[in-house]
Amino acid sequence: MARYQHIPGIASIVHVDDDREIDALLDRTDLDRAYAVKGPLLNRLMILRLRRALFRDGRALLSFAPRENSDRAAAQSALAKRLDAMIESPPWDNTAIAAMATYVTTGAGRDAAHAALTYAAAYPFLAPGDTSYEAAKFSRLFGLFQIMQVARMPWKGLSSRLMGKDKRAAREILQATGGDDYGLHAVGVTLANSLVILERLRAVLAQPSTADANAAFEWNQIRTSPVAVTRQNKASCRMPGIEQEVPANSLIVMKLRQAQRAESPDGFEFASAHWSFCPASRYIEAIFARVYEVAKRSQASA
Ligand code: HEM
Repeated sequence: MARYQHIPGIASIVHVDDDREIDALLDRTDLDRAYAVKGPLLNRLMILRLRRALFRDGRALLSFAPRENSDRAAAQSALAKRLDAMIESPPWDNTAIAAMATYVTTGAGRDAAHAALTYAAAYPFLAPGDTSYEAAKFSRLFGLFQIMQVARMPWKGLSSRLMGKDKRAAREILQATGGDDYGLHAVGVTLANSLVILERLRAVLAQPSTADANAAFEWNQIRTSPVAVTRQNKASCRMPGIEQEVPANSLIVMKLRQAQRAESPDGFEFASAHWSFCPASRYIEAIFARVYEVAKRSQASA
């Protein structure tokens, strides 16, 4: 059920944590990724923090651009096509997959697994002749992601933001990923989701039900939504479950992770049924399917 947090002059925020309501809201054309520094005080502060994390040189990363941005949809489809072609046969260095497989089966080598996961996320954006896995290089890249994560925290991240640590980390991630907005998105933003998925895979492999060497990989057992996606309303509007009209430039916080249930539609975690669908959905699934395959093989031979 949507909840409206309204303190006149201070906050106008709609919180939604129901999967069906989120699916309906994601399609509404009056809700967009505007990131306009408008509305009451708390809204502005939250938007400023989002802009700091999701903007580059004063504009939204392509992955966070508004629906009608002239480049967005074509780039989204082109990335989906490129990533889907890439996974026709697993492209990643076996050493990286083995590092993740070791971690999910034994719990040992967590840092190595994090470096390897960073490599797999960054892989589509690495220079063509430079796609082999070097643990030290990707461990450094993972460290840059961690700096960005800390800087996103309202209070804990304040000093990092004041010192510009997040900006420097973003620049270095961009250098490593061909200056591509999507490369920065893959490493600097969504790696947080992939880390949770890695942990879920570890938990699944520890269950007796998957002890069977032939147990098939099931994405839905480990799928994980981002914590939240955010929209603003361009004009005042009505929203289901909220009595009063929601004024323009309110924040609509859709809490995907909290809303995700076993029954949520396939692809809910990637907004697959909507204009903002994640073009990396099959690519991400393929990484974990490959880790699962190698992990099962090593479990069977142990
Ligand atoms: C290699 C890693 C990834 C890349 C390159 C990537 C890329 C993208 C891009 C480009 C978009 C924006 C599409 C658009 O509207 O133009 C997007 C959206 C999205 N992605 Fe991903 N993604 C990655 C990983 C993930 C992961 C791990 C998850 C979740 C587990 C995820 C969930 C989503 C969701 C929910 C959206 C919709 C956001 C919204 O509606 O505002 N992505 N992704």
